[in-house]
Amino acid sequence: MTGTPIEAVIFDWGGTLTPWHTVDFAEEARVLAAAAVDADEDAHQRLAAAGDVVWGRSRDHHTSATVADLFVEAGLTHDESLLEPAASAAFEALASRRLTGEPLAYLVGTREFHGLSLQVDARVLVPRPDTEVLVDWGIELLRGELAGIAAPEVVDLGTGSGAIALAVSRAQPRCRMTATDVSAAALAVARVNAERLGLSIETACGSWWSAVQGRRFALALSNPPYIAARDDHLEALRAEPLSALTPGTTGLEALLEIIANAPAQLLSDGWLLLEHGFDQADAVRAALQVQGFKRIGMRRDLAGLPRCTGGQL
Ligand SMILES: C[S@@+](CC[C@H](N)C(=O)[O-])C[C@H]1O[C@@H](n2cnc3c(N)ncnc32)[C@H](O)[C@@H]1O
Repeated sequence: MTGTPIEAVIFDWGGTLTPWHTVDFAEEARVLAAAAVDADEDAHQRLAAAGDVVWGRSRDHHTSATVADLFVEAGLTHDESLLEPAASAAFEALASRRLTGEPLAYLVGTREFHGLSLQVDARVLVPRPDTEVLVDWGIELLRGELAGIAAPEVVDLGTGSGAIALAVSRAQPRCRMTATDVSAAALAVARVNAERLGLSIETACGSWWSAVQGRRFALALSNPPYIAARDDHLEALRAEPLSALTPGTTGLEALLEIIANAPAQLLSDGWLLLEHGFDQADAVRAALQVQGFKRIGMRRDLAGLPRCTGGQL
């Protein structure tokens, strides 16, 4: 272990706050983060006592790579000084919140998405890496098929933190981007993120297409809620807004509503790209066909599962 160790206080397996031993936090945080990325069993086990708290034996695998951020957030950054009581208390408070299931992204207040640092809190879903597949598909169309349109109108339906709208806008600044959400609180987060990143987007509040009624778009993207209301996965996601996760009994309600009303809101030859659950690709494809979409395609997520379906009107 390099550097001068600081006295640290961390949780043990039982979740009790205990003086553990001297820890060089900068080093340990790096190892823990590396273990998360590399799944290095040795590093994982050495740090299990600390890691189980911040990792929380969570199914939320996206959070583990930012364990180092939690230490930084608590002020545990100076490995040459004794741990200050205030930093210890801050870490304790953060770890307690983690134990209740809050995602690390809420604890540290930011999440990286498609190269952007987005501010996130309990008003919005934590953007997932899988959604970058949808963003990449949209950018690909804007660079290819839609390259001839000087200022294409693009809409992100259900924008949450603004993740999709902002990532596409940054890659394709010529877009006239509108970001919608039924949640005014979520739109406030999206606007803060746009301002922080210096990106210009329009926001509109309302349910799906009604937020932009009467307008037509060259490209529409959406990652709507698609988890069925009784799905067991919802329990592990309880810290995130329920309205961002489930649209109703089947999980298909929002996807089908967006598809049914898309022809009235897309330009002729306009595109609609949708993220959905791993077992919903066939239902989404069938609904697109019923509405007259052609050139229907599908994209897989990083795990190889069919998670995006889209087509051209
Ligand atoms: C799965 S989250 C996606 C958030 C963001 N686009 C992302 O990918 O990280 C779904 C979003 O749809 C919004 N939403 C839910 N019902 C809606 C509706 N009826 N009309 C518009 N937006 C809705 C939620 O507030 C939430 O922000």
